Amino acid sequence: MNLLLIGFMIVVSLIQTIIWLFRNKAHMGIKYAIYHYLTVIKIRKAFLDANYYNKRFYFNNEIADLPKVKLEFSNSFSKATLFIENININKAIGDINISFALSNFVVDVAYLSNDENFHVFEIYDSNIDQQYKFDSFTSFKKQSDQIGNYSLFIDKSIEISLYGTLLVGQTGSGKTYALYSLILQMLTKKVHYNLYFADPKNSSLAVLGDKISKENTVTEIEGIIELLWRFNQSMIERKESIKEKLNTKLEGTYADFGYEPHIFIFDEFASFQTVLQTMEKKKRDEVMKLLSQVVLQGRQLGFFLWIVMQKSDASLLPTNLRENLPVKFVLGNAESQTYTTAFGNGVDIPEKNFKLGQGVFTCPIIAKRPRLCHFSYLNFDILKAVNHLNKGRGFCKNPRPTKQENHSFH
Ligand SMILES: Nc1ncnc2c1ncn2[C@@H]1O[C@H](COP(=O)(O)OP(=O)(O)O)[C@@H](O)[C@H]1O
Ligand SMILES: [Mg+2]
Repeated sequence: MNLLLIGFMIVVSLIQTIIWLFRNKAHMGIKYAIYHYLTVIKIRKAFLDANYYNKRFYFNNEIADLPKVKLEFSNSFSKATLFIENININKAIGDINISFALSNFVVDVAYLSNDENFHVFEIYDSNIDQQYKFDSFTSFKKQSDQIGNYSLFIDKSIEISLYGTLLVGQTGSGKTYALYSLILQMLTKKVHYNLYFADPKNSSLAVLGDKISKENTVTEIEGIIELLWRFNQSMIERKESIKEKLNTKLEGTYADFGYEPHIFIFDEFASFQTVLQTMEKKKRDEVMKLLSQVVLQGRQLGFFLWIVMQKSDASLLPTNLRENLPVKFVLGNAESQTYTTAFGNGVDIPEKNFKLGQGVFTCPIIAKRPRLCHFSYLNFDILKAVNHLNKGRGFCKNPRPTKQENHSFH
């Protein structure tokens, strides 16, 4: 009798084990099954904590009917896709803090499946550092050569197209250094990049700018305004010449027609603004007009404004400019107010102690909600690399305006 009972129990636990192995996809490996099991448990607990379930009666006992969960890890466990059943419930799925439940994992993209049966979350492990560390310019260039002429890499998982960009972070968070790795990429491209540098604090960016394009590097306020004006003039000329080409391809951009990109890199924008505020209204308005023309029309024409500053409060960066800069980075451990001004209200920021050059960003198509990023570490002589590149690059092809034109502006 006892033996029969023991035998029965063995069979039951065997069946349970088989179900467990099957549910946790043990055919993918035992490590996979354990990861799967632990993660699903955490998610189910989060459902309970958030009261995200339907109540059912089962033999007179009230039970919680949790939504079904499907989880698919990528090969290295660094990424996963999570499917949560779309149950009939008067609650938002956003009430469950998925990122929190999954500790290391951060939600990247969230959407409803085509048949609307599942909420789908693409998640990734925030503990796996995506930063590139380059020990020589050669290895940097090798990486850069893998990327298209009109795109830039940020880290191992991120590549972005050219857009108007806002780069925010406290002093020392790695903003200017981030620019170096992007500028160096531009200099290695097969397409000529026309770079403009405004550095009102006259720091190391101006030194680099002088080497790359001396005539387009400025530090004084009047010089910056004049450079902005010239940048706009070139954009207006481009607009004229692109018009004819648009007849052949309506949705075309500068890149389709083989035009060169022009990028105005504006470091420490707030110190420029502070000085500008002391000037007469007419001048302030003119400068704002120049800036907004670029952010509104530049994308198709290939003219981009990159604004770098510590905080992007409306008092320092007018809202219309901020809203029209499609790419936004916030580097370092910023105050919640900084995240709110950059990304808007109620946006989840992955909890993390950010390292130098690390932060979050949003970008059309690839990062609709703030996603982690980590700019490269360049363990080689940057100035030497620029000098080397300059030899192969020739001079900036951007024509300077005549004195006459210049005068009419001031
Ligand atoms: N991505 C990075 N990797 C390694 N070190 C970095 C990185 N970004 C910044 N640093 C270090 O931090 C210092 C300060 O960065 P910096 O770009 O000048 O800050 P910010 O412009 O935000 O004030 C740099 O001189 C560099 O030594
Ligand atoms: Mg700086």
